[in-house]
Amino acid sequence: MNVLLIGGGGREHALAWKLAQSAGLDRLYAAPGNPGIAAHATLVNLAVTDHAAVTAFCRDHAIGLVVVGPEVPLVAGLVDDLAAAGIPAFGPTKAAARLEGSKGFTKDLCARAGIPTAAYGRFGTLGEARAYLETVGAPVVVKADGLAAGKGVVVAETMAEAIAALEACFDGSFGAAGAEVVIEEKLTGPEVSFFALTDGRTVVPFATAQDHKRAYDNDEGPNTGGMGAYSPAPILTPDLSVQVMREIVEPTVAAMAEAGTPFSGVLYAGLMLTPTGPQLIEYNVRFGDPECQVMMARLESDLLEVLLAVATGRLAALPPLAFRREAALTVVMAARGYPGPVEAGTPIAGLAAADAMLPGGAVFQAGTRLADDGTLVAAGGRVLNVTALGDTLRAAHDAAYAAVAAIDWPGGFCRHDIGARALND
Ligand code: AMP
Ligand code: GLY
Repeated sequence: MNVLLIGGGGREHALAWKLAQSAGLDRLYAAPGNPGIAAHATLVNLAVTDHAAVTAFCRDHAIGLVVVGPEVPLVAGLVDDLAAAGIPAFGPTKAAARLEGSKGFTKDLCARAGIPTAAYGRFGTLGEARAYLETVGAPVVVKADGLAAGKGVVVAETMAEAIAALEACFDGSFGAAGAEVVIEEKLTGPEVSFFALTDGRTVVPFATAQDHKRAYDNDEGPNTGGMGAYSPAPILTPDLSVQVMREIVEPTVAAMAEAGTPFSGVLYAGLMLTPTGPQLIEYNVRFGDPECQVMMARLESDLLEVLLAVATGRLAALPPLAFRREAALTVVMAARGYPGPVEAGTPIAGLAAADAMLPGGAVFQAGTRLADDGTLVAAGGRVLNVTALGDTLRAAHDAAYAAVAAIDWPGGFCRHDIGARALND
């Protein structure tokens, strides 16, 4: 089968790497892809926002499955337009992608279905939002309703911070994403990510992972898209995973089906393990980045078979998922300055040597490109994901950092404490 992969980051490199190991794969295409993905796929120059062009490409190249990596094309309805043309795609429809695309939508669904999540209000004007804020007080969490590239959430410790966050939303800082806000009770407890696959009816747990969102060691510095991850996350015990499936994930999938907008794809639940049990912080409707990189390193099942079963509504007939018993850990190497402005074009060397040190893992590429002279250079904030498998989390950690040391990229930096919390327990 021919497959088209949409996206061009480290998540998509990991998906391409794993798809390339699938027995049933004939040709893999990626749009736009990146130099790492090019080792496994033919890169195609397609405007992903032009759904008619994507559909025409699929027809011309006998594509049997489209795998959509990022959330933006999902929220834009790419899967709907492919479905209308009879092309199976892994990922939710536009209506189902509201689980990530609208925080208010998700909160209302949780309220209807009795899913544990922070108490909240949703508001379309600054006046109403301020009035509610006066009644609940600080600390409080202010969220722009729509997609804001990870920047739309403020955990406000004081009323002044909360009011500033509300004003930022309503003055257009987040564009249309901030036209509505959600104000939430602040929860406490460790955060963890839980991933489940569903074809709209059948739901199976996929894996757990721990992300590291702050830019610098000891969880200091600004928030980022993620500076490293490991899987499994020991903090989410098997008992807690069962509870998360029963109280959060399964009722969500059932409520989406009842509403006539069944969710198909991977449901990524961002959870907080509060003193009263796991609560939903947010949903994403795609694999996490860099969580996908560690989950693909652990997955033993044939990824193409799995994604196709989800996309075609045959998840109930899929054999149980198999994962390696090893742990996986990834260290993100980012361009200096990330998540602020970064210098582009700094040269990167030593990837082959680093790759050779990562049996079962790989250096996945995120923001890279080939310069005119063929050398690999940085072209983004998060640039490399050095991903290792190990018999223990400690072994995976040591292997990943040994490979980081083999990479010659003076323009980059990484955190040195990925996995530290689980290693010190
Ligand atoms: P999000 O963009 O929704 O992932 O939120 C970013 C971060 O804000 C989360 O990872 C949490 O650390 C924090 N956060 C979001 N909602 C809450 C909440 N209700 N209580 C405490 N922290 C929260
Ligand atoms: N690593 C967080 C995310 O993918 O949203």
